[in-house]
Amino acid sequence: MNAPPLPDRPRMDSVKYRRAAIEIESPEEYGYDRIDCNLAESSFTDGRLGELGEGIEELVLQYGDHLGKPELRRILAEDAGVDPGDVMLTVGAAGALFIVASSLLDAGDEVVVCFPNYTTNLETPRAIGAEIRKLELRFEEGFRVDMDALAGMVSDRTRLISLTTPHNPTGTVLSEAELRRAAEIAEECGAWLLVDETYRGLSYVGTPPNAASLSPRAISISSLSKTWGLPGLRLGWILCRDPDLKELFLAAKEQIHISTSVLDEEIAWRYLKDRDHHLRRIRGVINERFACVRDFMSRQTDLEWVEPEGGVIAFPRLRGEIDVDRFYQLLNDEYGTFVGPGHWFDMDRRYMRIGYGWPEAEELARGLDNITKAAARARG
Ligand SMILES: Cc1ncc(COP(=O)(O)O)c(C=O)c1O
Repeated sequence: MNAPPLPDRPRMDSVKYRRAAIEIESPEEYGYDRIDCNLAESSFTDGRLGELGEGIEELVLQYGDHLGKPELRRILAEDAGVDPGDVMLTVGAAGALFIVASSLLDAGDEVVVCFPNYTTNLETPRAIGAEIRKLELRFEEGFRVDMDALAGMVSDRTRLISLTTPHNPTGTVLSEAELRRAAEIAEECGAWLLVDETYRGLSYVGTPPNAASLSPRAISISSLSKTWGLPGLRLGWILCRDPDLKELFLAAKEQIHISTSVLDEEIAWRYLKDRDHHLRRIRGVINERFACVRDFMSRQTDLEWVEPEGGVIAFPRLRGEIDVDRFYQLLNDEYGTFVGPGHWFDMDRRYMRIGYGWPEAEELARGLDNITKAAARARG
């Protein structure tokens, strides 16, 4: 007897994971060599291995400490004002977010999450089947988190409150008072407060303490990708002081990765030993690039913005009558310039994320100029 024919594709009753536009259309997927002016990145200029790799061939490629290289965790703990045992290294901040969401959430659990946001903050809870309540950040309100609105949204069903500071894509920064209030709200309703601090160190309005240092109900996550411009290392971390949660996160990490890459950890440690030196250099460059964007925005009639308070990204929007599709078509195809269009964040395409921390000064200036030209032509 003949076996029944195989179905063309495996049957999927539900789609658990789906690729997001921000990933499919990202410069690394589209092809860096096809982009002339890359204003679509959300990090500082990518660093190089250079001297950091000296003598690396002697490194023993064994499994690492399951929490992560102790010397590296000590540096991160010192900066955050927590214990080295409160730090667990992860595969990027994305890996940290995955571990937190998959460890804490079940289908039906309520999550209050600021919106718009970096995709993983929304997608992983969605894939788990959590009920997502969006805490909307509005242009008209300066993209600020309304703490009273947050307090009104939570209930005893809320398992996780998820905030980001400095925020991607708007560049707003939560003050220490706001972080404390958010932690109190979490404590009162019995939820955990997750604060995505991937842009930490790049605030222009003062750097508040890590959320995890403020409350045992708070979990901070971060990585080497954005502030430090080392996304290819794929190294991030979770800061958490609650003993049960730390054990839970470690158990999750052990099931996913066992340990993080000892090669990535070694390079990260060599780099962060000179943390202050690197940060001074990076902030100096960012200040210049930010001044360039500020100057550009002060001359725009087609664009309006909420000036960012931190990070390396701004989220302006096109104003008035304009053919938005034509704008992007001209910008991408004729001017070879890419930004993060609003749909990457489930927002109107009039919004665009401009990444000013990644391109060199000349590329940035040219890219901004191309935005002006494309907008003028799309207005017809
Ligand atoms: C706010 C935020 N969190 C997390 C991530 C993930 O970063 P990575 O996994 O490279 O550390 C990103 C990347 O864009 C981000 O913008």
